Amino acid sequence: MSVLSGKHIILGLSGGVACYKAAELARLLTKAGAAVQVVMSEAAEHFITPTTMQAVSGRAVYTSQWDGREANAMPHINLSREADVMLIAPCSADFIAQLAQGRCTELLGLLCVARPMDKVPLLLAPAMNREMWAHPATQRNLAQAVADGAVSLGVGCGAQACGETGDGRMLEPAEIVQELEAFFTPKLLGGERVLITAGPTFEAIDPVRGITNRSSGKMGFALALAAREAGAEVTLVAGPVALPTPRGVTRIDVQSAQDMLRAVEHHVRDARVFIATAAVADWRPATAAAHKIKKDGSGRAPQLSFLENPDILATVAASERARRGELYCVGFAAESDRLAEHAKAKRERKGVPLLVGNVGPATFGQDDNALLLVDETGTREWPRASKRELGRQLVAELSRRLAAARASATTGGGA
Ligand code: C5P
Repeated sequence: MSVLSGKHIILGLSGGVACYKAAELARLLTKAGAAVQVVMSEAAEHFITPTTMQAVSGRAVYTSQWDGREANAMPHINLSREADVMLIAPCSADFIAQLAQGRCTELLGLLCVARPMDKVPLLLAPAMNREMWAHPATQRNLAQAVADGAVSLGVGCGAQACGETGDGRMLEPAEIVQELEAFFTPKLLGGERVLITAGPTFEAIDPVRGITNRSSGKMGFALALAAREAGAEVTLVAGPVALPTPRGVTRIDVQSAQDMLRAVEHHVRDARVFIATAAVADWRPATAAAHKIKKDGSGRAPQLSFLENPDILATVAASERARRGELYCVGFAAESDRLAEHAKAKRERKGVPLLVGNVGPATFGQDDNALLLVDETGTREWPRASKRELGRQLVAELSRRLAAARASATTGGGA
């Protein structure tokens, strides 16, 4: 279930071509279980109709402070009193200027000023031409709006409706939903640095062929998203996967196990947590041919010899920082049978405090999974759930474990 379920969101639209994305945004928010009350500026009505926004939000839209539907004639007060958050998407350069000045000429600006600031946060998804975005007046106004309590979600970069390319596009609706979900998630890992490996590795045979496996990377990406939502600074070292980077996560793409080890060794130095979800190839071809290996007509297949790959998790778990308790290491194990037995043995072999077992064929490529947590006290089963939900549960579990390690360190028990 999304953290947005049951939340009451005021979705404010100011004028801009990105209004066309606001319909999709309203749809995603209602799908996540939120109640969405749309409020539109007069300029926004030039870009999308209140009828469309009413249809996708399931509620009558407000466009005017003179709206006669409110018995007390005070929509600017009534609307914000039941809200959990106000989100302005798209937020135009002009609307940012209005916010900076606290202008109340239209219902939308009036609502922002009249909201109870301590209860109803104001989030902005700016959208405008790149020159308008870069203009010092826009940046000055935004800084003022932020100083007055608004939160800017930032802008995207790329092609713009005007034909130019650069910063200023509104974030995509799915990205805004991710930002909102992060906003409402308790910061259980606030300030912690988390390093995660995900996906398969690709071990080259020649420039066009290689050995890989069916890991989709979904579990690692879900964990990265959950850790970031919980306030962690997340670095994700990803093998070749076709997944979008979760917002706010630093992603490093790698191919082989050796590349992955190099990236991990570099980024693990200041990490507090290392989670190895990657399905690293156990072996690699001893040499990768410089050119494509051709059939020679003899009918004989080429003979490949293999070298064992480094064990990234075991290497990190044996490091000085991990042994001193400064780095908490978590491994994953995908097994096909006797999960508990193999997972327990693997935890000891890898030298990690926590190992998460799952059944390989039941998880690879799937959106959900069932987990078995193995630590020094025994095993615990987590029933089947979406990887998104399991990511959240694992983050909560990690935060408990880090807190216990901290408490034990302060009482002299070591981590
Ligand atoms: O492949 P295996 O079952 O040994 O994987 C168990 C754990 O070890 C996983 O967390 C995986 O990411 C990690 N691993 C690794 N480097 C390897 C092999 C596995 O980090 N070469």
